[in-house]
Amino acid sequence: MSEVNESLTPMLKSFTNELVVALINLDLHPPQSPLVQDNLNQLIWDLRAIFSAGFASPLCVQLIGGQIRIEGESMVGPSLQAGRLLQLAKDRDIVELSFDREVQKGELLRFIDLLSSDNEKEAFHPSVLPRALSSNGIEHITVTLRGQIPGDSSSSSHGDPAMQDYQALADVLQENHVAAFRGENLELDRAAGVVEQALAHMGESPSDLMALANYDDIDSFTVGHSVRVALLALQVASATGATEDELLRVGTAALMHDIGKSRIPQEILFKQGPLDQDEWAIMMEHPRLGAEILLEQDKIDPRAIGAAFCHHMTPGDRGYPQPALPFEPSGISKLVRVCDVFEALTSVRPYKGAMTPVEAFVVMHREEGGFDPDWLNFFEQIIGIYPLGTRLKMESGEEAVVTAHGPTISQPQVRLLLDPQGKPLPASADQIIIVGEEAEGRKFCIKEITSGQRPETDEEAIIDQAISTPQHPCI
Ligand SMILES: [Fe+2]
Repeated sequence: MSEVNESLTPMLKSFTNELVVALINLDLHPPQSPLVQDNLNQLIWDLRAIFSAGFASPLCVQLIGGQIRIEGESMVGPSLQAGRLLQLAKDRDIVELSFDREVQKGELLRFIDLLSSDNEKEAFHPSVLPRALSSNGIEHITVTLRGQIPGDSSSSSHGDPAMQDYQALADVLQENHVAAFRGENLELDRAAGVVEQALAHMGESPSDLMALANYDDIDSFTVGHSVRVALLALQVASATGATEDELLRVGTAALMHDIGKSRIPQEILFKQGPLDQDEWAIMMEHPRLGAEILLEQDKIDPRAIGAAFCHHMTPGDRGYPQPALPFEPSGISKLVRVCDVFEALTSVRPYKGAMTPVEAFVVMHREEGGFDPDWLNFFEQIIGIYPLGTRLKMESGEEAVVTAHGPTISQPQVRLLLDPQGKPLPASADQIIIVGEEAEGRKFCIKEITSGQRPETDEEAIIDQAISTPQHPCI
């Protein structure tokens, strides 16, 4: 298989992202809604751009091994929230979708509809598939089923366990957001189950899930944000010596903290620009809406309701909602508030780049009365300035990922991933080192954090902007 030209990667990633989001949006909105139409337009635009940039038609998207791949290259970011697409493919024995340069918007819509309809599952049986596609007017999308590729070994390929656990978190959250949007019951037991799975994974390999979180920038319904908040909260809560039962409660509350956003209109939720006063008033309803949604459930931990309701409250009373009587949020709520803002500041949004953890801590400490000081200080101590999973560039040119804390705050343990020329280092070599300590006659020093796209503006300007718009972090 040929390697994907590097300049094409962002376009391929955008196309696969849109495919994942289109499936979600079509679940919630009629085909003619602006959101679905925007998705379809973007898919077509991406396809045209990919072929114009020299990619030979058709574009073959593999759905195997629990990941989306193109030309064998894993689309890690889009795969993280593609649990539904991958499950649909698995249930229908689909291993590859091919889109040729003539594909049209209506055809894409009919195909996504056919793929996601439970009643049409039989259409993907090999004996009827060609007829089902042509009777739906689908001529420029080809579906390859398991066993139709010579030497196909996809049935035996197992997914990456960290990817599976991350997808499970994203998937359960996505489904709960859809259920809340429709006014249906949430699946809170399932949410607790995937949190338990994630906890077990973090116990064995603490940095894996956080490393994947750095790739997740789809953020349908702010799913990526909530998963990252849950992982941060679990990491910090684990360091308090909390019992497993308490950790499950923390993780589930953190995962569901923004469930109220499922009832905020998506044109406000995903507006590419500053919200006006009226839009802010609607956005600021999400803690109350979240608490209401959770209160409607049969079995719910009151602390999860508290986290949804209180995660924008501040000790200095500048947050929201403003309670009518003096009110002390629970420890979980205070922790979720710290994780929520830290995650928002250190991740990429359509309107901003990512801050480094140090910049985020500066901003958070400057906001007097913005956070519970004990939780903020403890969080800072546990997460550190090089959080687990952070991608780094070394002075000598290698790329690495933080796998554990080291002897000092500025000396994390890292795994070297790429050599100075950007080539993967052989898996057999021992690539775990402590920054600043001698290893095989060399000392590695950190040049910069590469997780997230760094903004081009100067750091002072970013910090000032963040302080002057304190409501922004939660969008
Ligand atoms: Fe929020």
